Amino acid sequence: MDKLVVSCQGELSGNIEISGAKNAALPILMGCLLAETPTKLSNVPHLMDVTTSIQLLASMGVDVLFDEHLNIELDASHLTSKEAPYELVNTMRASILVLGPLLGRFGEAKVSLPGGCAIGSRPVDIHIHGMQKMGADIQVEQGYIIAKSNGRLKGADISMTPVTVTGTENLLMAAVLAEGTTYLRNAAREPEVTDLAEFLNKMGAKISGLGTSTLVIEGVERLSGVEYSVIPDRIEAGTYLAAAAITKSKLTVTKVNPKHLSIVLDKFTEAGADITCTANTITLDMRNRSLKPVNIVTDPYPLFPTDMQAQFLVMNALADGESTIQETIFENRFMHVSELARMGADISIEGNTATIRGVKKLHGAPVMATDLRASASLILAGLVAEGETIVNRVYHIDRGYELIEEKFHKIGAHIYRLSD
Ligand code: UD1
Repeated sequence: MDKLVVSCQGELSGNIEISGAKNAALPILMGCLLAETPTKLSNVPHLMDVTTSIQLLASMGVDVLFDEHLNIELDASHLTSKEAPYELVNTMRASILVLGPLLGRFGEAKVSLPGGCAIGSRPVDIHIHGMQKMGADIQVEQGYIIAKSNGRLKGADISMTPVTVTGTENLLMAAVLAEGTTYLRNAAREPEVTDLAEFLNKMGAKISGLGTSTLVIEGVERLSGVEYSVIPDRIEAGTYLAAAAITKSKLTVTKVNPKHLSIVLDKFTEAGADITCTANTITLDMRNRSLKPVNIVTDPYPLFPTDMQAQFLVMNALADGESTIQETIFENRFMHVSELARMGADISIEGNTATIRGVKKLHGAPVMATDLRASASLILAGLVAEGETIVNRVYHIDRGYELIEEKFHKIGAHIYRLSD
């Protein structure tokens, strides 16, 4: 298994171009199943989860073509299977996102039930209940969700609690071809959900209320393929900005949408950084400034994203004073804490709240994390820790950060990969 070796380098500087958003690309790739003609996607990041999604779509008979710019053309006009097997769902939970489009367009789907994962139990009951409300017959047999509908799904009034990102996306994709109007209440408002809705509307869907917590979907009879470019990855951008904050550097991220990071940028400012934005760049300047502790509560968008929690926790670990971070989305998302403690961080956890007492320095150690953002936070810690930090299980990183070593090299970080 590959490892990343990170060592302390001092200041970083320069620009980093941000890739397309993983969490928008995945539902949009699955959304291609809804179109009767080919779709061409651009700004899709080169990531393990994208490869897994393409493998899954190809296994169902979707024709996939890449051009020389790595744009992807997907043609779902001749599907041979409507099944997402255990082997693929097991490696990527987002595979559940084929359920809505398959059921909506073909009236049948068989999708392996995702299990729990490192950050919590992560059920999919809201996805299932919503589709049942639209008239689907859904059974769970031998670990598979077997869904059928007699003719088109029927529009329904669905309220989702708690707010769920992939749940909203799955039900949105089920509803676009349903008969009648569907209301999705307490819908997730994440920019990635809005990007999917804009993509579906371009294909001919009739979704209104984009960016609000009530999505209204008037079902249409068919959708056609389109050309579409995926939004930038706000979490990738936030992670590199956190690297700049931790190393007391000045860094610009380009090809981003600063509006998607509003509250995160506010927290960087509270932590002592100087932030300047243009329409599609963000510059963070932390030179000659000291890190201040910031209290954080994770919540659905537009509040503070759980996917930036681990990165801010490392910032707080090095800040001058005490802070708390409360994780309200996932029940077990502090696995980076014990690893950071091995690097010298002073953090205690009670329930869903971490109390962080800033220390002057961290020291390098072999570390391991069991989820994507936790792994990213360990790399950040390695950038300032004395000595070498060896981050094991790099495959988590490869699921979510495109060209991570190249991007870090470009801004002057010492980081290299060891392959077994
Ligand atoms: C998505 C993101 C992930 C992010 C998370 C929260 C993708 C591919 N992943 O994950 O990066 O951290 O949103 O912003 O977009 N829940 C239920 N029943 C359900 C569904 C969810 O109880 O049927 C609960 C979950 O256990 C969790 C909460 O709802 O406590 C939010 O989860 P959800 O928004 O569904 O996360 P994902 O969509 O899996």
